[in-house]
Amino acid sequence: MKHRITLIPGDGIGPEVTRPTLKIIKAAGVNVEWETHLAGAGALKKHGTTLPRLLLDSFAKNKIALKGPVTTPVGEGFASVNVELRQSFNLYANLRPIKNLPGVPARYQNVDLIVVRENTEGLYSGIEHEVVPGVMESLKIITEKASTRIAKFAFNYARANGRKKVAAIHKANIMKLTDGLFLQCARNVAAKYPKIGFGDLIVDNACLQLVLDPTRLDVLLLENLYGDIVSDLAAGLVGGLGVVAGANLGDTHALFEPVHGSAPDIKGKKIANPTAMILAAVMMLDHVGERRAAKRIFAALETVLLKGERLTPDLNGRSSTKQFADTIIREIER
Ligand code: NAI
Repeated sequence: MKHRITLIPGDGIGPEVTRPTLKIIKAAGVNVEWETHLAGAGALKKHGTTLPRLLLDSFAKNKIALKGPVTTPVGEGFASVNVELRQSFNLYANLRPIKNLPGVPARYQNVDLIVVRENTEGLYSGIEHEVVPGVMESLKIITEKASTRIAKFAFNYARANGRKKVAAIHKANIMKLTDGLFLQCARNVAAKYPKIGFGDLIVDNACLQLVLDPTRLDVLLLENLYGDIVSDLAAGLVGGLGVVAGANLGDTHALFEPVHGSAPDIKGKKIANPTAMILAAVMMLDHVGERRAAKRIFAALETVLLKGERLTPDLNGRSSTKQFADTIIREIER
């Protein structure tokens, strides 16, 4: 079967980690017709906008996208490309598996967490204004509809993937109405899934528990801002941003991406670690039904990481992006 997928290589190291990932997907025997589009700083330079119409049309039509990191110009009045894509296509669930990879140095072992973040509202609704000079206001929107939808997503995911418990993370002790509603929706949904355990944690305590012993938690359910922060914290538990990927999922569209940014400090040095981008591709292949190929790629990645002979400098190795990726391809083709 041939898949038509929208590809956003992104800025900075984006193209450097995208190129080998496409080769790896091809080596695993998946037939993809890529529709490649710029977004972010590169698109602004070429098309005068960070999110060109052609890209939006391509994703609207194909429904699946693989995206590298993009640089959003700071303080120039441009909305975040990521926030805009998530809101435009109603990609309401941000799913980030946090799991140790063999051979990847990490602060903890045996971590196996799923972070489920509400992606469309909360403090990222983008409703900010100046009340009077020197006083700014940002509105936090929490709705019953979006909170119930994301809670259902977390419980359905838990049920479909053999997970034992979901913890709703909030600050309802202070934000009694907004976070209170989020928590109440989670409780209402939890009641319909009696086989999945449910609990809740105040977000500061959740951060403490995560750094004390992340193996005690399972599926984490968070609204937008807490999810953004806690998911990066969680990535740090298993080796950092370079080895974690995420999916942005809606009812009709899905976008897969590495967690890291465009890493301008190592751009062009040919040492970017493509692991997170490869993991994003693995999640994407699973999603489009290419489970065998996804498994093959993941197994090859694990083997190469475990052997540790061809690792990029961020993993204490001395290999280039290409050497690392070529070793994975050889492993797939064995
Ligand atoms: P970053 O993730 O780009 O870099 C943080 C540190 O991690 C840097 O030292 C970098 O060299 C290293 N790093 C990141 N990915 C790596 C990889 N694959 N291999 C080896 N080392 C890696 O975060 P930063 O510097 O805060 O952001 C840079 C730009 O990226 C900003 O413009 C930001 O807006 C954008 N960004 C975009 C994201 C996206 O499109 N999803 C997510 C996060 C940031």
